[in-house]
Amino acid sequence: MHWPPCTLGSRLPGVLHRTLCSIFGFLLGVLPSLRVQAAGANPTLLVNADHRTSISLNGDWHVIVDPYNNGYYDFRMQPRADGYFRNEKPDSSGKLVEYDFSKSPTLKVPGDWNSQSDSLFFYEGTIWYEKDFQYQRKPHTRTFLHIGAANYDSHAWVNGKKACDHEGGYTPFDCEVTDLVHEGGNFLVIYVNNQRTREGVPTLNTDWWNYGGLTRDVSLIETPEVFVDDYSVQLQQGSSSAISAWIHVSGGAGGVPVTLNISELHLTATSSTDANGRAALELSTKDLVRWSPQNPKLYEVEILAGGDHLKDQIGFRTIEVQGENILLNGKPIFLRGVSIHAEAPYRGGRAWNEQDAETLLGWAKELGANFVRLAHYPHDERMTRLADRMGMMVWSEVPVYWMIDWENPKTLANATQQLRELIRRDRNKASVALWSVANETPNTAARLAFLKKLINTARTEDPTRPVTAALLVTTLPDAPNGTRTKVLDDPLGEYLDVLGCNEYIGWYEGTPELASRTKWQSNYNKPLIMSEYGGDAKAGLHGAPSERWTEEYQENIYRQQIAMLKQIPFLRGLSPWILMDFRSPRRDLPGIQDYYNRKGLISNEGQKKKAFFVLQEWYLQSAVTH
Ligand code: GCU
Repeated sequence: MHWPPCTLGSRLPGVLHRTLCSIFGFLLGVLPSLRVQAAGANPTLLVNADHRTSISLNGDWHVIVDPYNNGYYDFRMQPRADGYFRNEKPDSSGKLVEYDFSKSPTLKVPGDWNSQSDSLFFYEGTIWYEKDFQYQRKPHTRTFLHIGAANYDSHAWVNGKKACDHEGGYTPFDCEVTDLVHEGGNFLVIYVNNQRTREGVPTLNTDWWNYGGLTRDVSLIETPEVFVDDYSVQLQQGSSSAISAWIHVSGGAGGVPVTLNISELHLTATSSTDANGRAALELSTKDLVRWSPQNPKLYEVEILAGGDHLKDQIGFRTIEVQGENILLNGKPIFLRGVSIHAEAPYRGGRAWNEQDAETLLGWAKELGANFVRLAHYPHDERMTRLADRMGMMVWSEVPVYWMIDWENPKTLANATQQLRELIRRDRNKASVALWSVANETPNTAARLAFLKKLINTARTEDPTRPVTAALLVTTLPDAPNGTRTKVLDDPLGEYLDVLGCNEYIGWYEGTPELASRTKWQSNYNKPLIMSEYGGDAKAGLHGAPSERWTEEYQENIYRQQIAMLKQIPFLRGLSPWILMDFRSPRRDLPGIQDYYNRKGLISNEGQKKKAFFVLQEWYLQSAVTH
């Protein structure tokens, strides 16, 4: 299959067909990106950044909306020497300067731009952000610009000098600016472009709003010259008492002394780094309370290395797969879940703050869930921190969604980088149970090759967690008695630990009642999580159970689905689509959707629909029995 899939196929001879398609494809979506060339340093990633000393740069930032990238390219499309990153302004010198951040409007950071201004609601392009800040340099200190996330392609300059570049809209990155910051007044300019591209991750088509901007915290973080840039402190697989840890120190040669303390357990271990800056440590105790949804116990873990001193809150638990079972702390668990998009309840826009996290996970808890699928991209770190505290297990995902450019090595490198950044940020979160590498991707050889590499990356970066993906399923022709059989036979299943499957019986396929005559088979002796099912309902719209868009129709879907799901012998969890209505540019039905996907069990204004209570009833019952 080639991109874009077109309907010309059979009617035109091969060569003509391919030529026409590529021209069509080119016109459709791959106009040469007017993006800034990446010339800056590769960003690093400071783990546990939210526990480090930092200077917040959140607040109002001056912005220039620049659909033509005039701030970077001249009329010949050549990079300008005096681009907006220089932050000049007209003055008495008479030099022609046609912009002035200090007189330009402002936008809130963190925050997407689309929900902050009606004129930017549909905007996909470039916006330049500028922020002035005071800074005091300190001896033996390194300074990093920390960006929680910037959607999608971003480039940062400090005092007119390039700091770093980053691609990917949902993971954090840190740019070293030690040599760029001045004593006293400084300015920071960040270019952000959220144009969708063919080679991007995600790519041209998604069913969620492409909120652009500096969507998460921005701050300056200070570290000693030798500091901890990554670590893992986890319970050993199959153990209830042995903790294995490694700590990576940056800026130090070998031999840096490292200490790990868990004072509540009276545990201390010391070691020193090898030539690669890594130190391994083992601790063991009989007094450990293992983390679980019923008892989300977190311990304060203290790390000292060189001059660096870090504290983190970590829960200790094991998560494994055995045949068709998912084992938490050695015992089978059923994941009563729901899917969530990072859409801010009530106000709309990209969710990022503590309140958003508390509202969304609070509703999931109220539903009786012990599990959430954070779709289809890494959510703000506040979500996984809160999930740790609340005892909510998490399916965490990278946006390898639908029709990615499978044969493009740049696309694979980008997806790999996003996965690495995600794992690095959340590897010590007890709540995070699964890494997901893809959603509803086509069964092609190129896709399989791409995803096998991504799965290997996940296993290399973190051998302690199962890997999954949301697959589509094969439907066999109906039997004479009308029974429909679904078979999990996607070749990708062979390389996954846990199978995810999206099905929409009763919405995109047949009526809700079809579920009652649908049987499920699997070619794999592996656990299944039904990662999506559901249907749209406009909150407050009522009618017959057979009437689409009504709460009764959605309720009927859930009743029929639950009866079917209970019959699937290898089902070990589910995350129906979806907890709350969310914005999507693909949902245009006036008076019903109005650019919202209405498959939420709760509306974006917090109204619980009838289906919420149907699922809650099952979950609260099974919470008692499981
Ligand atoms: C898909 C997809 C979701 C989408 C949902 C829907 O399965 O994974 O991103 O929103 O279906 O159609 O509502």
